[in-house]
Amino acid sequence: MCGIVGYIGYRKAQDVILRGLGRLEYRGYDSAGAAILSGKKVKIIKKQGKLKILAAELSDNPIAGTIGIGHTRWATHGVPSDANAHPHSDCAGKIAVVHNGIIENYLDLKRELKKSGHRFISETDTEVIPHLIEKFYKGNLEEAVRNAVKMLKGSYAIAVIHEDEPSKVVGARCDSPLIVGVGKDENFLASDVPAILDYTHNVIYLDNHDIVVITKDGVTVKDMSGRIIRKKPSLINWDISQAEKSGYKHFMLKEIFEQGDVIEKIIDERIRDGRVRFDELKIKDADFKGIKNISIVACGTAYHAGLTGKYMLEEYAKVPCSVDTSSEFRYRNPIVNRDTLVIIVSQSGETADSLAALREAKKKGCRVLGICNVLGSSIAREAHGVIYTHAGPEIAVASTKAYTAQLATFYLITLHLAYIRKTVSAAGLKALIKEFKRCAGLMNDLLSEYKSDYNIIAAYAQEFKKYYHLKHNKSYFLYLARNINYPNALEGALKLKEISYISAEGYPAGEMKHGPIALIDENPWVVCIAAQSKTYDKMLSNIQEIKARGGILIAIVTEGDKEMVHHNVNYTIEIPPVDELFSPLLVVIPLQLMAYYVALEFGHDIDQPRNLAKSVTVE
Ligand code: M6R
Repeated sequence: MCGIVGYIGYRKAQDVILRGLGRLEYRGYDSAGAAILSGKKVKIIKKQGKLKILAAELSDNPIAGTIGIGHTRWATHGVPSDANAHPHSDCAGKIAVVHNGIIENYLDLKRELKKSGHRFISETDTEVIPHLIEKFYKGNLEEAVRNAVKMLKGSYAIAVIHEDEPSKVVGARCDSPLIVGVGKDENFLASDVPAILDYTHNVIYLDNHDIVVITKDGVTVKDMSGRIIRKKPSLINWDISQAEKSGYKHFMLKEIFEQGDVIEKIIDERIRDGRVRFDELKIKDADFKGIKNISIVACGTAYHAGLTGKYMLEEYAKVPCSVDTSSEFRYRNPIVNRDTLVIIVSQSGETADSLAALREAKKKGCRVLGICNVLGSSIAREAHGVIYTHAGPEIAVASTKAYTAQLATFYLITLHLAYIRKTVSAAGLKALIKEFKRCAGLMNDLLSEYKSDYNIIAAYAQEFKKYYHLKHNKSYFLYLARNINYPNALEGALKLKEISYISAEGYPAGEMKHGPIALIDENPWVVCIAAQSKTYDKMLSNIQEIKARGGILIAIVTEGDKEMVHHNVNYTIEIPPVDELFSPLLVVIPLQLMAYYVALEFGHDIDQPRNLAKSVTVE
């Protein structure tokens, strides 16, 4: 939800800002802008549309200067337009501010500011910030920013420049991420690490209510009362090449293909001497032993990973488990207490609803464990313990490798709990670990079948497009599955709708007869997850019921399935044979590829789908 960049140093600020925003475009992409201190003036340029429009404008009319701030927007208050794009300015045009977050009391503040003569030109909540800074400015920008943010309710990460103080950029954060990149003779502010990795690997993670001043040769972090806080930079141990497409057409495709290696690496790192090791975890084995129930809380794809986690945890670790979307958990007053382990799952570690749920759980006295991908993210820092998924940077808005890394982490937690609580025998655990490792290899084998653009899933997607037009755009997708693959049905549908804008629903196959079967005629394409499992026969019956009503069927089956040929499905996709417990890791691959190729057929912007953003830092 919006990306911000700040720069001060010796390079052309516009180049650093554009490059940084390019790496943050996943956070929002409906408009972009920059403010640069050029000579003695703040020059602002902002454009509706993708970053390339701003880049073209700056290439035609470059702005000289080595200090500046930039923004890529995901609209909350006010439509995407040049006027609503950031940076925003004060009445005198001396101050420029970029902001990520939501100012909840902006209407009250705006009313007051207007009364005292401030003029507003946008519909945004952000515009109150430069006016507040203008109001409080008495020759000290840092102080004015501190006083201004004290007035704000809501969330913010901001970067500010002022033409009367041309040797600094000031930043502040509360519930929206902000990091400092520490360079040599240059320093940076950004919403996320990839924005600065071309220049430095030394990063300071700011905390809520920190105010930071960066100059060419220094970084000073203070608290709200102006006391200096000493913060040591962390060294980022991954490279920018991991945030590049490396020859793939889209980040999404690259990330799908990384999954086998990601899971192999997770297993290598976490399983040593036949036991699961969570080195960074602050929650002790004894605490795990004492928990009476688990409550998993997450949004979107991470929620689907949590649902899958419930199946494995209950079956193998024998702990009662509930799963909530974060936005429901936080308001429904769940019955959780100090005997509950709350697991918050989040790729970004910044999702506002999940962060709020985490705080709610802590208030209720629960132990909170975060499963996060982004190092140093808010959820990772606020949870009692964190397990990082180590999937590497995920850039595409549609989550893929973060999902399978979350699944892998749930397998590890399950094995760990089963070991501590002795719910599986030593021999049983050994066999499970062996199968888990084998499954990671199978993921790579399966992916290698889809290396070429001319694969069967791409062909099915072409067929779907033809059919869609033949049926006057009435065709859509249903995903059906049972047991541990049911969450994959939800995930397959989510992937498809978010990047192809085609209607899709995921259902437990057994629920069809309770209503959704009324939808079946010749329009829907029904993806049935029918890999070998204890509910295989039930899936065959569901397939018959759909066939009898004219639905087009795609069956995901296990290689060597002899039965499916008799069921007259329209299309089949095979996955290698694997224990049902681990099958979600394989089943999801064709589902992700199906979503990808359908979106490709329809010519959509796969990595930056409309209306979405990678990290949802608003409620
Ligand atoms: O960063 P998080 O894992 O907390 O994000 C949660 C959801 O916003 C995210 O999974 C979203 O549903 C993805 N776009 C799905 O592909």
